[in-house]
Amino acid sequence: MGFITGNPPLTRPDSTFAVPTEIKYGIGKVGNLAIDLQLAPDLAERTRLAVFTDAGVAAAGLLDIVRQAFAETEHAIVAVIADTPPESDAVFVKQAAAQLKEQDVSLIIALGGGSVMDTAKIAAVMAAYGGEAHEYEGGFMVPGPITPIIAIPTTVGTGSEVTLAAVVKDAVQRRKLTIASPFLFPRMAVLDPAMVATLPAKLVAWTGFDALTHAIEAYSCVEREPISAALALGAIELIADNLEAAVQESGPTEARAKMQYAATMAAMAFSNSPVGAVHAIAHSVGALFGVHHGLSNAIALPFVMAFNLPAVAAHYAAIARALGVTPDGQSTDELAEAAIAAVRDLKQRCGVPMQYREVGVPTDADTAAAITDLTLEDICLSFNPVKAERDEILALVTRTL
Ligand SMILES: NC(=O)c1ccc[n+]([C@@H]2O[C@H](COP(=O)([O-])OP(=O)(O)OC[C@H]3O[C@@H](n4cnc5c(N)ncnc54)[C@H](O)[C@@H]3O)[C@@H](O)[C@H]2O)c1
Ligand SMILES: [Fe+2]
Repeated sequence: MGFITGNPPLTRPDSTFAVPTEIKYGIGKVGNLAIDLQLAPDLAERTRLAVFTDAGVAAAGLLDIVRQAFAETEHAIVAVIADTPPESDAVFVKQAAAQLKEQDVSLIIALGGGSVMDTAKIAAVMAAYGGEAHEYEGGFMVPGPITPIIAIPTTVGTGSEVTLAAVVKDAVQRRKLTIASPFLFPRMAVLDPAMVATLPAKLVAWTGFDALTHAIEAYSCVEREPISAALALGAIELIADNLEAAVQESGPTEARAKMQYAATMAAMAFSNSPVGAVHAIAHSVGALFGVHHGLSNAIALPFVMAFNLPAVAAHYAAIARALGVTPDGQSTDELAEAAIAAVRDLKQRCGVPMQYREVGVPTDADTAAAITDLTLEDICLSFNPVKAERDEILALVTRTL
């Protein structure tokens, strides 16, 4: 019997695993990007580049590295979209799409965290097919291929560099909408530890917990399949072993490099075994109160795990082992509880808050109701292992506040 997983039976009669993105890893990879592009037959002729990034990433000097990579090459950077807003924005995406069309861009470089990568994905869709972001909401609404994207993650969380998803905030409706389509997988992901060397400690912690949430939710969702499960457990182990060190020490350290891998692996898992109630709540709190996505997940995670435990105790027992809990005669339920305790302990060691009130979210009944209503509309909730009525979700949300 498997030590970590206990060798559970297959739970689905059929499933698909797909991640078409080519993944390149190495310190200095971004500086040599032009060579890698020229060696790829489908990319070599694509020389009109748009670079998406944001103010923080540019201020860290990372945009300069990309500019330098294409100086004195056949590539021309014909558009730089350098002011992507946090958590993306539907109006901004439309403006960026217009720029892509005007400049006849043939290849997109997305340099940043999830906000930047998702903005680039949705802008590419709108440049190709027009319309508004919300028209593509849900699964399989993107009609066809988009301009290829080279994704260079600068955070250690979203994994958007290898996912079929993009999330954008609709500031008017105060909600986040998720677009999922196989056409949104980036063509190439470049994991260069130099790109996360400058990430501030608290963002390492918050985005690292986004990755941990992806892995835990993918491992315990209703559409779990075995390849995703293996990637999820591998990611959990890497995070347990490296997140605290990655928070404590900046630079292109081994711990940060392993967190990059962990984020990418967890995202490959959740692209094929979707996330659940933690993300549904986190999206809702993020849209209403502007709480960072990773931080929002980190707060909801142990509460949702406790809520889901009766349905997925065996899964959480495996997660406990991957988190480093050594079984010592405990029952499956006790090990599952130990997984939740280990998550709380890791949060504490990384300086992550425990409840939403600590980050300025009000605790009154109207707030709980508003978060609950948005959570019930979120597509991620349908993959949660426990199906619940409104009053149960309301009680869960209230506990997180
Ligand atoms: N597409 C997906 O599959 C997916 C999955 C999960 C989350 N998301 C979305 O991703 C977004 C969050 O992305 P995120 O957590 O990566 O954060 P982010 O992209 O919003 O970046 C957070 C902050 O970190 C700064 N920053 C980023 N890299 C830096 C670096 N190396 N040095 C210095 N500063 C740096 C940025 O300037 C920004 O201010 C949310 O909108 C969320 O909904 C998408
Ligand atoms: Fe996430």
